[in-house]
Amino acid sequence: MSDRANQLISDILRRIHEAIVENDVTYEEYQTAKQWFIDVGEAGEWPLFGDVYIEHVVEEHNFANRAGSQGTILGPFHLPGAPLLVAPFELPHRPDETGERTHVSGRVTDAEGNPLQNANLDIWQADAEGRYSGFMPGPPEGNLRGQVRTDEEGRYEFTTVIPGPYTIPLDGPTGNMTAAAGWSPWRPAHIHLIVGADGYEPLVTQLFIDTSDYLDNDVASAVKPELIVHPEPTSDGSYAITYDFTLAPTHAPAMA
Ligand code: BEZ
Ligand code: FE
Repeated sequence: MSDRANQLISDILRRIHEAIVENDVTYEEYQTAKQWFIDVGEAGEWPLFGDVYIEHVVEEHNFANRAGSQGTILGPFHLPGAPLLVAPFELPHRPDETGERTHVSGRVTDAEGNPLQNANLDIWQADAEGRYSGFMPGPPEGNLRGQVRTDEEGRYEFTTVIPGPYTIPLDGPTGNMTAAAGWSPWRPAHIHLIVGADGYEPLVTQLFIDTSDYLDNDVASAVKPELIVHPEPTSDGSYAITYDFTLAPTHAPAMA
């Protein structure tokens, strides 16, 4: 038995027991909740439920004092092994991909502003209709997923389309619970990134599009003001987003 498991499980159960007493939960409500737990498992939605309603607190609490750029939740739609892109660094997309074209660029540096060469940016996003490849019908496998590396000045760039906002699945138990509570199921438009470099803490983050709806009502509570970007219109009719990332050094392991 671990003291940590005992402490955590006891605390969570005590808080559930208190909520039952304070809210006079009935036997009928208990049976409804029990069936809902079963439904979440059968629908394979525990990762979704956790990342929508729990992950943001884990992220905020664990990284509250981390130096460098802000991170936010990973979410359930990352797929490892996206292709490493070469110039002109275009995220893989359909020939007729809809959405506004945008160039995204910036630098990756350490806390002193020194460039981090060969830092890796792993990028994934929904399409303009809010659909993720590999999880939702529509986009082909690998669509709008790729990795790029920084040059000797710490610069990175890629081109993509501006993603659309999306709802969590409405027809499953997580969506049903969200509707039962009267909450919005929407996430604002965003681009996911994991920025990594040897000797630095990987930064799991998202860039939120400032023109998107739902920035102040994200179902996953993952928006931070520092992560909102403005796509600037360019002379060729597309857009440009610039964003610099600062990485924190890897924590030295604690002394035993
Ligand atoms: C996402 O950012 O893709 C996401 C995060 C939490 C739940 C569902 C989706
Ligand atoms: Fe997302």
